Amino acid sequence: MNIRQLLSDKVQTAMIAAGIPEECGPVVAPAKKAGFGDYQANGAMAAAKRMGTNPRELAAKIVEQLDKGEMIEKAEIAGPGFINLHLSEQWLADRLEAAERDSRLNISAEGEPQTVVIDYSHPNLAKEMHVGHLRSTIIGDALARLLEFQGHKVVRQNHMGDWGTQFGMLLAHLSDKLENNDAEVALADLEVFYREAKIRFDDEEGFDDRARDYVVKLQSGDPECLKLWQQFIDISISHSEEIYDKLNVTLKRSDVYGESQYNEDLPVLVDELLEKGIAVRDQGAVVVFLEEMADKEGNPSPMIIQKKGGGYLYSTTDLAAIRYRANQLHADRILYVVDARQSLHLQQAFTAARKAGFLPESVSLEHCAFGTMMGDDGKPFKTRTGGTVKLAALLDEAIERAQKLVAEKNPELDAEACAEIGRKVGIGAVKYADLSKTRTNDYVFNWDSMLSFEGNTAPYLQYAYTRVRSIFRRAGVEPAELTGAIRLQTAEERTLAIKLCQFGEVLQQVARDTYPHILCTYLYDLASAYMAFYEVCPVLKEGVSEEDRQSRLRLCDLVARTLATGLDLLGIEVMEKM
Ligand code: ARG
Repeated sequence: MNIRQLLSDKVQTAMIAAGIPEECGPVVAPAKKAGFGDYQANGAMAAAKRMGTNPRELAAKIVEQLDKGEMIEKAEIAGPGFINLHLSEQWLADRLEAAERDSRLNISAEGEPQTVVIDYSHPNLAKEMHVGHLRSTIIGDALARLLEFQGHKVVRQNHMGDWGTQFGMLLAHLSDKLENNDAEVALADLEVFYREAKIRFDDEEGFDDRARDYVVKLQSGDPECLKLWQQFIDISISHSEEIYDKLNVTLKRSDVYGESQYNEDLPVLVDELLEKGIAVRDQGAVVVFLEEMADKEGNPSPMIIQKKGGGYLYSTTDLAAIRYRANQLHADRILYVVDARQSLHLQQAFTAARKAGFLPESVSLEHCAFGTMMGDDGKPFKTRTGGTVKLAALLDEAIERAQKLVAEKNPELDAEACAEIGRKVGIGAVKYADLSKTRTNDYVFNWDSMLSFEGNTAPYLQYAYTRVRSIFRRAGVEPAELTGAIRLQTAEERTLAIKLCQFGEVLQQVARDTYPHILCTYLYDLASAYMAFYEVCPVLKEGVSEEDRQSRLRLCDLVARTLATGLDLLGIEVMEKM
């Protein structure tokens, strides 16, 4: 159910009946200020301008034609031609009751489910997974959960960097190490392993030649070399999986479909593009010149797909990936949760793929770009000594800090409970801090603000959830035992009810626009509306009538369930106590 949509349809029908051309939209949105109804329809102004008539009079005509049905209590004209829409109390109560009875809070699955491929996380296995991949993993996983909840078929694609020249040096080093150790031991600390390999590559006589030799062997499919590579990849993936587990991210090993998977298709693809005349040979390389992306002077944007020596590039792999996703995975929509700094690369790949006819016109290619994670000093996030921050260490620190806070706040908790709650709060805080910001902006990573129990943070929302749940413990009832009707008497109950009813439309918006912060803002507003309600509407206090108590408990239950569902879609866990 989408209140905005329902109202839009009603107003649009009234507009047409009032003789307004169909292209004029109803422009319905939630009212910005209290006292102006619950929703506003602002389409009369633009329509009047177009028709050369008086906007207030036109608004009056629309109201006259409006079929209020059971949904709308009254419609009033305000200002130059706004229409303020007041929802009926009974209608709202009916919606809430339906939501309460349903395990999905009465949010129906999308009528036309799509196959959505989401490319996210995608670390480079020749390097330690670092904070740069954190944002992609967190945002991508939230979108995957949400689209799945909406009823879409989500295909997760972890486009890992598991191929390329860097592997030469790593495999040369690994083969030496295996003389004394097995692969698990040799690769126990990848960071150390990379560093050792790099030092040898830079300093050791003859090692660079061996490394290059390994690249050639790897690319020509030498079985010994492939076996070594496979060992390296398997262990690297396990290291990533530890991070995914810790982060409560849904990516599985079966979602890994790395760059190496496209190897065989690369020469085929380049030949095909040459044949079609889309790519040309240029100074020994193969290049696609994209007039579609020409600069101001009219120079086409060059995209190299094969290097002079014959090597393939990141861009070649991405072209192959697009065609695989569209034709093999049958994607309707492909989301790339990738750093904004790769925007040119992706635009080129998208444009070239379309030009080459690699995908049906209808398939949508979307770069869900995100900004850089910054430190408190306003520079890209680094360790104090300027190194890249290891993800595992960062997450451990989050958990540790949260455990300390939880123990301070609630000294009665035993060590085990404290550890578990600390884990959920710490990981939740890191994820929520990222998700709650507009993803396209850079964002500052700050422990104190993300772990604060005040403001738009995970701990605040998790705490709000525990507060609602504690009411049921104190009342000694289970939500399923409540029988009374939902009544919306005070302004606070009404505001809370409308917020609750908007959950579905918020999810639709996030699914469409891929901005998870919209869901965060909604949950924060919901928690705030709940706090305001709780201030003026006592639930368990003496003197509250049984009818009010039942109705308010039911509202409480809906708040708890909406918070838990919303946080779950963001990949954040809740707890009964904290
Ligand atoms: N592995 C790449 C990196 O770390 C990101 C891959 C993004 N996905 C893609 N299809 N290009 O920069």
